[in-house]
Parts: sequence; C-alpha cells; structure tokens
Amino acid sequence: MQKTINLLKKHNELTVIDEALDIYLEIPHLAYMEVKKEDGGKALLFTNPVDSKNGRQFNVPIVMNLFGSYKRTELLFGRKIESVADEITKLLHMKPPEGLGNKISMLGDLFQLKNVFPKRLKKEGECQAVKHLESDINLYDLPVLTTWEQDGGPFITMGQVYTQSLDGEMVNLGMYRLQVYDKTHLGMHWQIHKDASHFFDQYQRAGKKMPVSVAIGGNPLYTWCATAPLPYGVNELLLYGFVTKKQAEVVKSITTPLYIPRDVDYVIEGWVDPETMKTEGPFGDHTGYYTLEELYPVMEVSAITHKKEPVYLATVVGKPPLEDKYMGWATERIFLPLLKTNAPDLIDYHMPENGVFHNLILAKMQPLYKGHAKQFMHVFWGAGQMSFVKHALFIDEKGPELNNYFSITKYVLDRFSPKMLFLSEGITDALDHSSPESLVGGKLGIDATLKFSPETPDLLTDTALLSLVQERIKGVKELHQYMLMTPNPITVITIEKTCSVSTLFEDLKDLTPHLRIVVFVDVLNNDIDNPYMLTWRVVNNLDAQRDLKIIDDVVYLDGTNKNKLDGFERRWPDDVSCTSEVVDGLKSKCLWDLEKSLELKYQL
Ligand SMILES: Cc1cc2nc3c(=O)[nH]c(=O)nc-3n(C[C@H](O)[C@H](O)[C@H](O)COP(=O)(O)O)c2cc1C
Repeated sequence: MQKTINLLKKHNELTVIDEALDIYLEIPHLAYMEVKKEDGGKALLFTNPVDSKNGRQFNVPIVMNLFGSYKRTELLFGRKIESVADEITKLLHMKPPEGLGNKISMLGDLFQLKNVFPKRLKKEGECQAVKHLESDINLYDLPVLTTWEQDGGPFITMGQVYTQSLDGEMVNLGMYRLQVYDKTHLGMHWQIHKDASHFFDQYQRAGKKMPVSVAIGGNPLYTWCATAPLPYGVNELLLYGFVTKKQAEVVKSITTPLYIPRDVDYVIEGWVDPETMKTEGPFGDHTGYYTLEELYPVMEVSAITHKKEPVYLATVVGKPPLEDKYMGWATERIFLPLLKTNAPDLIDYHMPENGVFHNLILAKMQPLYKGHAKQFMHVFWGAGQMSFVKHALFIDEKGPELNNYFSITKYVLDRFSPKMLFLSEGITDALDHSSPESLVGGKLGIDATLKFSPETPDLLTDTALLSLVQERIKGVKELHQYMLMTPNPITVITIEKTCSVSTLFEDLKDLTPHLRIVVFVDVLNNDIDNPYMLTWRVVNNLDAQRDLKIIDDVVYLDGTNKNKLDGFERRWPDDVSCTSEVVDGLKSKCLWDLEKSLELKYQL
C-alpha cells in the first residue's frame, strides 16, 4: 500500500489530510463527498484517524478512494483496461499457428500464462511481521469505519476474503463486507449466490468449522480481483497474475490453512462455526438504500497479523456515483470478451452508474433473426452475477454509443412501442429491496433492436397536463415531461400516495392521447427535475412484474416506495443520506469543498 501511495503522490492523485478526523461518520463522509467530484476527485490519505467516542487515536493511516477515477484505475492496473480485454479476446480466439513467426508469437503468449498461477512461498510474509494472538487479538485496534448513522456498527469494506472448499481443492477470493461485532468476531456478509457462501454450505453439511483469512491492502489489484465475478471454482488470484503478468506470491496464514498474498497490510484469520448465525446490518449500501438486518455467519478471529507499518484500506458506498463505478467499469470492459463467448453477436454492453450495476444494463448487438435480442437477454439472466440484472435494454448495431445516455434514450424513444417490452422472472441481487419476496423477482427486457413508427401524442404543457392529472388522481403534486422531441415522451409524476399507485393508472385512461410513458414516484425525497436520480430511484424501486402496466398502448410504471398499501410484506429500507451535522462540521473545518450543484444532483 505504501508503494501505491507513492505512485499516487507522484501522479498528483492523492490528497493527504492530517487533521484529526473521526472513524465514526466523519472520514467516510469526506470520502463520499470526494468521489462525487466531476473527475472522481483524488485518493485520500487520512493520517490522523481518531475514535472520539472511545477516546482513541490510531497510528495507522487510512487510505480511501483509490480506484475513484478512470485515470487512477488505469494507473493501478499499470496498463490500459482495454489491453487486458484484448489479451483475453486473443486467447479465446487462439488457433493452431501457421508459419514460424506465428508459432513463436503464440509461444510468447502461452509462456506469459505461467505467471497466472500463484506461487506459494515457504517463508513468512511481510504481512506477518507483527502477530496478535489469543488475548492480544483486538479488532478495535484497526481504524474500522462506521459510514452511516443507521449502520449496525463498524464495517470492514475492502476485505479480501480468502476461503477454500471443504476438500481444499478450490480456493476463492471474494470481497464481502465484514461487520465488527466485538474484539474477536466478524459478520461474514457473503450473499447466498456468492462462492464463499457455496463453500460455507459444504462445511455446514459436514458440521465442520470453516477457515477464513481476510486480507486488507497490499497491491490494490488484489482488492479489485476480489470483486471480479469469475466462475465458481476459479481462484481470482489467477486474474491478478493475468493482469499484472506477475505471479501473486502467497504465504500460509498462521492459524488457518489459507494462503494470502505476502505483501498485504493486514490479515485477520479465523474460523466460522456453521452452527452460529448472527444479525448483520443494517448497512448503507451501494444501492443508495440501507440493506436491512439479516442473519449471516460469524467468524471467530484466531489471529491478526500485519506489516510493520500497515495502511488501512477502505471504501464508502451509498448513492451513486461511488468508487465502485470505476472498479465496475474495469470489470465491465474486461469481461466483455467472456460474455461474447455465450452471446457472439453482442457488440458491447454497459452498466450506467445510476443503475447501480444490477438494476440496469444497456447492450448493443447485431440482431440476425427474430427473437435474437430476447435470446441474449436470457443469456444475461442466466450468466453468473449478470443474472441479477433487473432491466435490460438492447439496441441494434446502428445505435449510438452506450454511454451517450441522451442519444440512447432518443434512439429508443424514436422507435419505441410497448411491443418491445418483455417480462420475465428470475433471481435478484440479494440487495434488491423491491421484489415482493427476497431473491426472486420480475425482469424487464426492452428489445429496441425492433423498430416501430410511433405517432407523436397530442402534446400539452406540463402545467395543463398536471391539472388534468390532478383532476383525476388525488395526491398528485408535480409533473415533468421529458424527451418531448421524440414521439414517446416520458411523463414523470410525483405523488403523495394514499393507495397503491398501480390501481390509479386506469383513472388516466381518457388522457391516453396525451400520454405515452408515465412514471410515478413519491413526492418525498425525489426531485422531479433531476433525471439522474429519478432513473436511480425508478430502476431501484421497480419490480416490473408488479409495477408495469400497459393500458391502451400507454406504459405506466410505479416507481414509488412500496408498503402495506401495495400488499408489500417486506420492510422497505430508508435512503442512505449524509448526517447534516457531520457535513456542517466538515464544512466548518474547510474540508468539505463539493460544489453545491453536485451536492444537490447526487442528493447527498
Ligand atoms: C465495495 C464493494 C462491496 C461489496 N460487498 C459485498 C458484500 O458485502 N457481500 C457480497 O456478497 N458481495 C459484495 N460485493 C460484490 C462481490 O465482491 C462480488 O460479487 C464478487 O464477485 C464476489 O466474489 P465471488 O463470486 O468469488 O463470491 C461487493 C463489491 C464491492 C465493489
């Protein structure tokens, strides 16, 4: 980590903050603010973290926002992200070489592959320079952050979690948040679909304790690899070797059989008893909502080791954009060639940041036959973590760049018909709060590779349309029509709801000539003039099977928060928001320097 800090300093990519700041809310709030800046801001090094509640000062610095920009992400990769994707494409398309020149160049490619396998060292690593065992173990010696006021406690947010299958044949590296319960216990938030959870099932069935080693820091690419959605059974450190062209050098943990990179900053070792589950959370998550309390396994810590001068690495999640935007961008680019192996006519795909990965995916393809886009949607909905995606929009090869959101929206609305919409059901991300039951829910496909010739509606002004809607529906507050230059404007309506909104759609039937796509959101906590956050809200809140209706060719969407009025039995979580006293405190210390317009845009 020290090397990374020097690299960032050299490239003027690091701000050092020497002021004493609290690990409770203060430091994470500042990092949250920083990543909202136009270019992702700088990486932050907090040299003087304190825990005011318990009167503690730490002599360990905290580094945050490492991956928080495209530039820094490539700096940490040490190469262009596209070059990694190109190498993967080349390997996937390798053919028997013809001619001596080709044979030699192929040998070079294959020779480099030997570096992908981690190298097990016999000696101890730098990460084991200092050892804490038995009564000397204290998780509170690490400056673990509490990010949000409703969080259930402090959470380690960038832990590399190393696990192995019961028979020791498969090893896995995943990144899961870890709640600090007390000096020696951590909550293991590996969600049910993730690899460590599959391993845990094996130990549970066998009634055996599961070894776990959690590393923090070292080369930042260990952390990125931990987030990479590699197939079950593939060790993510192979990807580290592939990207860096250097073998990961690993050493054995001192109290578990697991190997961890020798140069990480911290290692927390322990054992998970499959008999014990404990309430984990709440936690202000990267969906911008809190994830609520749930039972998760617990690790009893058997050792903490660290470097002589460790640096503690952390991230903040909440409403987008976040550091994971940039980490996810690298994943998106690098995994495109792999996705193409199952969907060969896929040209590109993209996950907009305000769709928080699983809520919205845009894809471009070359449709060759009827139903081709639907076929690919099913590929996505069946492929590993891609299957969490709730809303998939596919356009054809003539469409604009997928990150040009205005052009994409216009392209789709210019040719849109409700006939493009396609509903399905499948698994949802464990973090999804909108589906009627957890883990399964509605999926919406929009096949915009089809082309229709829609007619422009009879347009009214926002004010005129608002009064017509208000005459028909109680509680309607505001109305804003977007994309009026297309034949399919999107009419956003805010409401203070007193019944299920989807029961009100019929009441607008006689306004059909003026409407094409109608979206309802709550008046509370939504800014009708902020399409970035409206998109975030609607794709988060929607379960398409429940919340989408087509009446007389008008598409109605209910993007409001659901409750008993909707027959919604689960608890609906709160938005993640900054604590205003903390923000004011940071402003008074002249540390908070985000433009007011961005503060409003991202609804901090
Ligand atoms: C900042 C951040 C925090 C994450 N937290 C969790 C988490 O708490 N639980 C989880 O299951 N996945 C979490 N993830 C996603 C996993 O790291 C990701 O799905 C990874 O591919 C899991 O690895 P696995 O497939 O080897 O299990 C997080 C990702 C990021 C970027």
